Amino acid sequence: MPPPMPLSPYLAAVSLLLAAAFSSGWTLHAAAELPRFREAPAFRNGPGCASAPTIHIAMTLDATYLRGSLAGVLSILRHSSCPESISFNFLATRPRRFRPAVSASFPSLSFDVYRFDPALVRGRISSSVRRALDQPLNYARIYLADILPRSVHRVIYFDSDLVVVDDVARLWATDLSPDHVLAAPEYCHANFTSYFTDRFWSDPVYPDALNDRRRSPCYFNTGVMVMDLDRWRAGGYTRKLEAWMEVQKREARIYELGSLPPFLLVFAGEVKGVEHRWNQHGLGGDNVEGLCRDLHPGPVSLLHWSGKGKPWLRLDAGRPCQLDALWAPYDLLRRDGRDDLFADI
Ligand SMILES: *[C@@H]1O[C@H](CO)[C@@H](O)[C@H](O)[C@H]1NC(C)=O
Repeated sequence: MPPPMPLSPYLAAVSLLLAAAFSSGWTLHAAAELPRFREAPAFRNGPGCASAPTIHIAMTLDATYLRGSLAGVLSILRHSSCPESISFNFLATRPRRFRPAVSASFPSLSFDVYRFDPALVRGRISSSVRRALDQPLNYARIYLADILPRSVHRVIYFDSDLVVVDDVARLWATDLSPDHVLAAPEYCHANFTSYFTDRFWSDPVYPDALNDRRRSPCYFNTGVMVMDLDRWRAGGYTRKLEAWMEVQKREARIYELGSLPPFLLVFAGEVKGVEHRWNQHGLGGDNVEGLCRDLHPGPVSLLHWSGKGKPWLRLDAGRPCQLDALWAPYDLLRRDGRDDLFADI
């Protein structure tokens, strides 16, 4: 009889660990656990806030970007002269999971968490150049007008990889008259053609959609938008965006990115321009390598790490870009006691 095959000590250890993990349900438990975050200081209204308008802000919450979302909230509150006049409208696929996380860091924050049903977009997402862009929640901004209550007439949408370093009331005051649905910084130097495929531009019909615009279509970033939800609802813009997603999914591959191109197809040339200071984007580098990027020239009200690189990942890896140091002061992640030591100093 041959002796039993020797098992390498490494393999033995791994299989023991796996057996223990499965029998205890440990893997499932670990996956469901959110990181723990510190409590932020309370921010109070200053003088002159009695007649301040309620500012509605919308952001998404998920496990991957929670650290970024909470840093974004902290940055908004810290620079606001009337922080108690801000109302946060979060979208999450599992609201009950994230409500406690927000309350723990911001006990007196005025906020709601609305459920975003991923089934709304599942059949309409086509794969893009970066997997993170294909997450259903990345498309939630398309459905804000449907999901938020009718009492919310205007909202500022913010991505979860940005910090605001100015009073958000200035952005809220953007004039959308006479009839704009959306306001955002526009970048007319960017090559608009390159956001769509040759298949799109050579089609006999698709490019006509861009013909009747008030101004020539320019690129804008969808991570910072002021949205008139009443006009959005009245104009049925959710359906218009969905229609382009259906073209992409079922008819022809007309773009390579995620939720951005449909926004360009519906709104480019119809956007109310906002000062560039409100979206210093691209700090995460490109969609492939995530290299370090510099700020665009000019003043800065908002830093946006769009692109592949995220400041918290680069900081954790010990390979931060220079500008990541500007994100770090808003990081609320709790690191096993160390932060408690410093929190009250
Ligand atoms: C813009 O992009 C298109 C497609 O990627 C390219 O063919 C064209 O040469 C570019 N134009 C400029 C001015 O760079």
